[in-house]
Amino acid sequence: MSAEETMGQIAKEVAVCQKCALYHSRKHAVPGEGPANAEIMFIGEGPGFYENEQGRPFVGAAGQFLDQLLAQAGLKRTDVWIGNVVKCRPPGNRDPQLEELAACDIYLERQIKAINPKIIITLGRYSMAKYMPGAKISAVHGQMRRVGERYVIAMFHPAAALHQASLKPAIMADFAKLPELLERARKELKRNGPASESNADEPPKEEPKQLNLF
Ligand code: URA
Ligand code: SF4
Repeated sequence: MSAEETMGQIAKEVAVCQKCALYHSRKHAVPGEGPANAEIMFIGEGPGFYENEQGRPFVGAAGQFLDQLLAQAGLKRTDVWIGNVVKCRPPGNRDPQLEELAACDIYLERQIKAINPKIIITLGRYSMAKYMPGAKISAVHGQMRRVGERYVIAMFHPAAALHQASLKPAIMADFAKLPELLERARKELKRNGPASESNADEPPKEEPKQLNLF
C-alpha cells in the first residue's frame, strides 16, 4: 500500500471505530489531513466542536491562529500534515483520558509510519507526553530533539496561546524558528525534499515471481 492509500484506509477505519468511549460523541471523525509525504506533522489534542461538525482538524479559532503561525513560518496548511492524538471529539471538549489516548494511538502510529516525517511538532501537553513523558512544556518548547528516525519539537497549543496572552510571543517565536530547524533536520537526517522514503507498508519492489506451471 502506498502512504496515500494507507492514510485513506486509516480514515475509513476511524470513521467507524468503537475502540474507546469517544465514538459516542462523534459526529464526524477527524483522522487528520495533509500530504502523505509531508515533511512536518503537527499533532494536537482532539477535535473540538467545529472539527466534529466538519471532520477536519483545526478549523475553529485555534485553527485560524495555526494558519497565521504557519504563514509566519512561510508554510501553507497544505504543505504540512495536521492531526490529533484522539480522532473523535471528547464531549464538551473535556481532556482525553488515558485509555482513550492509548486506544487511539495505534492510528497515529500508523499515520506516522506511513508519512515518515522529518519533524513532528506536538501542540500541547497530550501529544508532547507521547515523546517527552514528564517534560514541562514551559521548559522544553521550541527545542528540537532527535527521536529515532526524526525530530520532535514540543510547542504550546495554539488554543492555550489564544487564551493566555503571555504564551503568544513564545509560540510565535517557536514557529519563526521552524524554517531553520527544518533545514537542520533535512541535513542531519540526510533526507532532502518531501518524498517519503520508508513507507513500510509498501510491498518490496522485486516481487517474488510466481512459478507459472502452465
Ligand atoms: N484543537 C486540537 O487540539 N485539535 C483540533 O483539531 C482542533 C482544536
Ligand atoms: Fe476509535 Fe480513536 Fe475515535 Fe476512540 S477516539 S473511537 S480509538 S478513532
